Amino acid sequence: MTTGGSVGEDWPVASTDPTPTTPQPGEVVRIDAGGWGWTWAADTRGRLHQVGLGLDGAGAPVEVDPIWYPDAHPTWGGPDPFRPPALRITHAEGTTTTRLRLDGVERQPLGDDELVTVRTVDEVFALRVAFRTRTHRDSGVLEQWVEIDHDEDGPVTLWDYDSIAPALLIGPDARMTQFGGAGWADEWAWTTERLTPGTKVLDSLGGIQPHLQRSPMLLVEPNGPVDEASGDVIGCSIAWGGNTRFALDVRPRANDEARDLRLRAGANPLGAHYVLDPGTIFVTPTVAWTWSTGRGELSDRFHRWTRARVLRDPDRTRPIVVNNWESTFFAFDEQRIVGLIDRSASLGADLFLLDDGWFGTSSPRDDDTAGLGDWEPDRRKLPGGLPTLVDAAADRGIRFGIWVEPEMVNPDSDLFRAHPDWVVRDRREPREHRNQLALDPLIDEVRDFEVGVVDRVLGAAAGTSYIKWDANRPVTDPGSSALPADRQSNAWVDWVHATWEVMQRVADGHPDIELMLCASGGGRTDHGTLRWFHEFWTSDNTDPVTRVRMQWACGHWFPASAMAAHVTAWGGRPLPFACAVALSGRFGFDLDLDALDDESLAICRQAVTTARRTQDLVQHGRLVRLVSPVDGPDRSRAALGFVAPGRERAVVFCYQLDDPVSPPPVLRITGLDPAADYRVQTTDLQGAPDDLGILSGADLAGGALPWRPDRRTSASILELTTPG
Ligand code: GLA
Repeated sequence: MTTGGSVGEDWPVASTDPTPTTPQPGEVVRIDAGGWGWTWAADTRGRLHQVGLGLDGAGAPVEVDPIWYPDAHPTWGGPDPFRPPALRITHAEGTTTTRLRLDGVERQPLGDDELVTVRTVDEVFALRVAFRTRTHRDSGVLEQWVEIDHDEDGPVTLWDYDSIAPALLIGPDARMTQFGGAGWADEWAWTTERLTPGTKVLDSLGGIQPHLQRSPMLLVEPNGPVDEASGDVIGCSIAWGGNTRFALDVRPRANDEARDLRLRAGANPLGAHYVLDPGTIFVTPTVAWTWSTGRGELSDRFHRWTRARVLRDPDRTRPIVVNNWESTFFAFDEQRIVGLIDRSASLGADLFLLDDGWFGTSSPRDDDTAGLGDWEPDRRKLPGGLPTLVDAAADRGIRFGIWVEPEMVNPDSDLFRAHPDWVVRDRREPREHRNQLALDPLIDEVRDFEVGVVDRVLGAAAGTSYIKWDANRPVTDPGSSALPADRQSNAWVDWVHATWEVMQRVADGHPDIELMLCASGGGRTDHGTLRWFHEFWTSDNTDPVTRVRMQWACGHWFPASAMAAHVTAWGGRPLPFACAVALSGRFGFDLDLDALDDESLAICRQAVTTARRTQDLVQHGRLVRLVSPVDGPDRSRAALGFVAPGRERAVVFCYQLDDPVSPPPVLRITGLDPAADYRVQTTDLQGAPDDLGILSGADLAGGALPWRPDRRTSASILELTTPG
């Protein structure tokens, strides 16, 4: 039995194989992760040490007795009494220390890759810890996680259970970059800081939408600042749909020329100590990580890996979506929606997405105080039900999508009146957040209900081909009636597995439905949860100035095909600029199309035409970042491009976000074929594109094109094609 079950096709599955190999003293384990790697070696007592990590890490020579190298994965009570542990367990009879010795190594080939399991056992207790890695050498991203099980005389308690804990020697100017802001509408804020002595903890809380506070990704530059093309940079992503924690423990060395860093990453154990019964395997989240030369390579790797191992239907070009949320909120009726569908079709969109507010009968969803849980169309607003809308879309040649929030309930709903005991709560009166409560997915009937929400909606709206799956509150009263009193803290981990089970059942049951992941914006943007989805709603903040920086940060980890970006009225920015920003993500609109004047409609039409020409590049091409809006003294500009795999075409987006504080930058377009000639056209989405003539890839890389956007909140889109 596994704790909640590890889910996802081809992702970590707890192994129960008996140990087949007998380790030798001095045994060396080498992981070639594709361009980088690590080496562990056992000392004479079988304790594991990290001998090497980095570009040459897989080939690191064992130069001295392994005992002189840092612990491979420090435990509480392990050899180093001065450093925080990555694993801390109270054993069944009360002992608080754990000391592991190597028990066997298994290498299972997976085509060109490998699943490597390093098995250890406690020196005293019948407790086993398996360190597992799955290579994906084609991308250079390594998946790594830990499994714990035991046969002690009762449950053990896991207090800390990090997935990785590498040791690094860092320079005095080492840096890290984290991605998190003030919460709702402030996702992906870019913060770079020097690594100084002490332990810095970067955690997230809230359970259901922790990534609103902090995305579970981290960049570490161990030898000082890097750029796109050079410098050592480590990227880590915790593939976990719950609370996460990075801990960076920095210790000075006497001369202060170098410092020791222990980087721990995994599920956040705060309030979430796990009581583990004998015979059950606890599986930590997978951490996906890489060691790259320059940030550009790091993103290449994460994009390749995300496409290969995470995103559903990665090669399918995503639709141009029109969503009604920002234009109507809850106030609409059939006529208004059919009108918007009509406008969406005439604009050239592919899909109309009906957002919140379409359901609720005895408790109609006229605002966020009522109706969640009652997934019947509100006939006052929609007398023809959903089929009228699906048909209206089909008649006009576009697809229909719909919003659901299956994990939530308003107290003012038939669902809550029938099942008040289905909610997440402890012994206190549960706190409402956005006037709603979270359903407890550890209750079997709740999981069935949640899967049934999607089945029911799709049944009632046959022909619907897209669903936006939202979750709009955090966990505030952590408790589960499905768990015994002495297992309440297990809920934080078990909820993630239970929710993933629901998502997997939905994805398996409706393989042709495209799914958007949303949690008050980007509250669930992790590589674990995304396995059942095609894309995510990057943030509710659609002010294009903010969005450029958010998409810049988010784009380090995810391809643009996953990042939904809609043109809205947020921030009151010029429409051509708002369109140009959305065009560098998965493009769509959330504008009131009924209220647009002819000039605005013409700009939107040009944006759709531009999307048609460029979206294959944006979604499937190689990202090149050219001018940064987050680094350096002048953050008033941004430029990024997407290059076709064969380099025969490219699109480059240049944004002037603010009043310039320095002269225009030299625009060096990297990633092109230096020997090829490119015809360059530019548009600001007003009037016909300008032809800038033909330039070679080498000239374009050398800065032959001037910076065009000449005032704040303006943009220029450059399209590059090789003639013939
Ligand atoms: C969340 C989402 C929005 C919208 C609303 C509807 O805030 O992020 O896009 O769907 O819910 O209530």
